[in-house]
Amino acid sequence: MALSQYAKPPTPFLQHSAFIFFSILSVYAINLHATDPPLTLDYYSSTCPNVLEIVRKEMECAVLSDPRNAASILRLHFHDCFVQGCDGSVLLDDTITLRGEKKAPTNIRSLRGFRIIDGIKNKLESECPGIVSCADMLTIAARDAVILVGGPYWHVPLGRKDSRTASFSLATTNLPTPDQGLLTLISKFLYQGLSVTDMVALAGAHTIGMARCVNFRERIYGDFQETAHKNPLTEIYLSNLKSGCPPIGGDDNTTAMDYFSPNLFDNSFYQILLRGEGLLNSDQEMYSSKLALETKELVKKYAFDPIAFFQQFSDSMVKMGNITDPDSFVTGEVRKNCRFINT
Ligand code: HEM
Ligand SMILES: *[C@@H]1O[C@H](CO)[C@@H](O)[C@H](O)[C@H]1NC(C)=O
Ligand SMILES: *[C@@H]1O[C@H](CO)[C@@H](O)[C@H](O)[C@H]1NC(C)=O
Repeated sequence: MALSQYAKPPTPFLQHSAFIFFSILSVYAINLHATDPPLTLDYYSSTCPNVLEIVRKEMECAVLSDPRNAASILRLHFHDCFVQGCDGSVLLDDTITLRGEKKAPTNIRSLRGFRIIDGIKNKLESECPGIVSCADMLTIAARDAVILVGGPYWHVPLGRKDSRTASFSLATTNLPTPDQGLLTLISKFLYQGLSVTDMVALAGAHTIGMARCVNFRERIYGDFQETAHKNPLTEIYLSNLKSGCPPIGGDDNTTAMDYFSPNLFDNSFYQILLRGEGLLNSDQEMYSSKLALETKELVKKYAFDPIAFFQQFSDSMVKMGNITDPDSFVTGEVRKNCRFINT
């Protein structure tokens, strides 16, 4: 009978491998996320009531002096959260006893904004010494960065602690790189408890900021012409990209990832992907990869519906900010200087 065939248990082999697969995923999930991180919106309401105003004011100055600073602070928060959770680990300098994350391949010569963070921390330490963690400060600053260049607002849950450690090796393995394929990228987000939808929405952060030639050279001398529409404007764009990024040399030359509106947080990043003109291979993969099914639909959705993008981006930023190692609430601290653990 057909019914009893359907009712048959899966073969032992399948059962076994599925079990291993899901146990590995759940072990990851348990290690990385408290199911309910003890974060609250009013965490500093009695201990540092002006924290939000102070961070906002400093970020206003920073973004006014250079709009790219908004992008750099947003990226710092992302690189913090993907390594040991959002615990300020990315902010630690190398010392004799501590190997920081700043020199990891994805970060070296690339992460910016550390002096802005020092500036905000100084202001907070003079207003409410020893109260606000660097991890929380960076989370608020990232939210403000987005608003200041025209993006959405969201409420920021607070109460993170700063780590007393950093991880060069997790910074090397957990962070996605532009040469990785779609499945690898997806797996790096799933590992952090983030979904495919979260990934596509969060990658929309590339609507602001710059990338260095070394990160898009293979793309512009590779399949750019294949994915892009063949029209004169695209030809001009591509030849401009090539002149700023020669086949050899100029590794640190930078170009905006969203050439429509590089300093505006909008959905034009997705429209660029629809045109096949994404600067990073990893971004274009979400639309053009043969494996891009769900991601392709999401790219289209956000390209046509800016409100849906803003809503999902806000939700996904809160979710990314929730990534915490439960131990950090026990072993963590509030650093006085974001670059060094307290003595
Ligand atoms: C999907 C996987 C991702 C990959 C492979 C990736 C890769 C990159 C690369 C290669 C750059 C250029 C860095 C340089 O050339 O120095 C970059 C810049 C940037 N990324 Fe991502 N990224 C990803 C996701 C994200 C996420 C989730 C966010 C934040 C929510 C983000 C925010 C940014 C920002 C704002 C910049 C510009 C930084 C600046 O101008 O200083 N990225 N990313
Ligand atoms: C990029 O680097 C090359 C080689 O170092 C240099 O000749 C060129 O002027 C740079 N282009 C830009 C736009 O900075
Ligand atoms: C993030 O954490 C806060 C505080 O624990 C919780 O209220 C919220 O539902 C979480 N949000 C997401 C999207 O996980």
